[in-house]
Amino acid sequence: MALKPILIAHESVDLRSLIHLCVESQLENPIIEVKNGKEAIKALDKYSGEFELICSGYQMEPGSGDELYAEVKKRKLLVPFLLISAYRPEELEALSTMRLDNPSNSFILKKNINGKSLMDAVQTMLGHGDDSNKNDQNYSKIRISKFIENPREDVDLYVRLSEGKLVKRFKKGDLLDIDGLKKFQDKGVEYFFLTTEDYLSYIKHESQKIFESFEVVDSSPEAMANLQVKALEESQEILNNIGVDPHLTNIVKASVGNIVGSVSKKKNVQKMISSLVFKKDYLYSHSILTSFLGCSMMQQLNWATEEGQQKMVYAALLHDIYIKDEGAARVKILSGSLYTSLSPSLKKDVKEHMKKSGDLLTKISNFPEDARTMILDHHETPEGDGFPRKLTASNTPVLSCLFILAHDVADFLITRFESGEGTSDFAQLYQKRFDVGNYQKPLQALLSVIGR
Ligand SMILES: [Fe+2]
Ligand SMILES: [Fe+2]
Repeated sequence: MALKPILIAHESVDLRSLIHLCVESQLENPIIEVKNGKEAIKALDKYSGEFELICSGYQMEPGSGDELYAEVKKRKLLVPFLLISAYRPEELEALSTMRLDNPSNSFILKKNINGKSLMDAVQTMLGHGDDSNKNDQNYSKIRISKFIENPREDVDLYVRLSEGKLVKRFKKGDLLDIDGLKKFQDKGVEYFFLTTEDYLSYIKHESQKIFESFEVVDSSPEAMANLQVKALEESQEILNNIGVDPHLTNIVKASVGNIVGSVSKKKNVQKMISSLVFKKDYLYSHSILTSFLGCSMMQQLNWATEEGQQKMVYAALLHDIYIKDEGAARVKILSGSLYTSLSPSLKKDVKEHMKKSGDLLTKISNFPEDARTMILDHHETPEGDGFPRKLTASNTPVLSCLFILAHDVADFLITRFESGEGTSDFAQLYQKRFDVGNYQKPLQALLSVIGR
């Protein structure tokens, strides 16, 4: 007998997609998503109320969750109803009796929404020992196309050969390449299976992202190329604005553009770069601007061989690849409110991202070692209060100093442009802070780049 569909009615597309992922991880039923109560009632008509489960929000326009529930009740449907709302059912008149009406009905407070609460609720509402419709208890499945949108390397991935027989295809830490994942789809495999423990940690990241309301973006190669061009042009404009000779920025734009283009085509870094491009603006734009400034400074110092510039672009594009949060990417040192206001898990990301990015890069063949050093050192400072090694101006390698300075300036300029503050004090500020030890040469290069 065909399985009855599950209806998800919620006005937030991100929440619908989280509910969808969690429900799909446990059940084989088709899933129907609608964005309001009115559409949900239409779906009741269309399917004659034959649903396995209804997951519904409360505040929706047109047609709220209580209108939908009233309709379910009026039609005497015995479909379990899961309310996902900021309110408890008792606080909502039309829903106050829902748990008496049908003992299978349940609710989750919006603030408690996560993979575990959703999966537990669905299992309790439908499970009750009926495992015929469920996957192996210890595993949860995820559609490969969904996984590819947000691949993570900290989970084991299994493929199901036959009922109850799973084989591990990728283990934690394996570098995932999108083409390799897509090959499974080409062979007709629809789902990866994760241990439920891994799945919950995967979903936890997903739900965190949802609540940070990540934008859904078009990730076609054309869209990516357009964003790259946009970031290059913005960087050029920012530098022109602080007085950099447009002729120089033109030259740098062409070479950075070329390197970014060729780096992006490298199969094993493609995924990393595209994930960066589509992260929030700051992450990508400060990376591109750092490449720009770094390469311009190298030209002033006559270090700008193609190989040298490539190292700079690699380091600039990949230095924050393990940072997933824009706020965390803006942190430079471990004191100050930018850092202290972060959640514990973001704090951990900040502390570890240089090492993690550096380690990941060792897996890329021909990855320039100097680029790795720049990445490992990018949170050191001329004052010696950076991390992880508290290097000083006299023991930080010059190339790292150049990178740190370029990165600092990129952050400064973006922040100032965002806030609308001017940058007339720019040269003075940098002269004061960076005219010391191994930073001196890069500082001179910076000052000649900006024509001082
Ligand atoms: Fe950064
Ligand atoms: Fe960083």
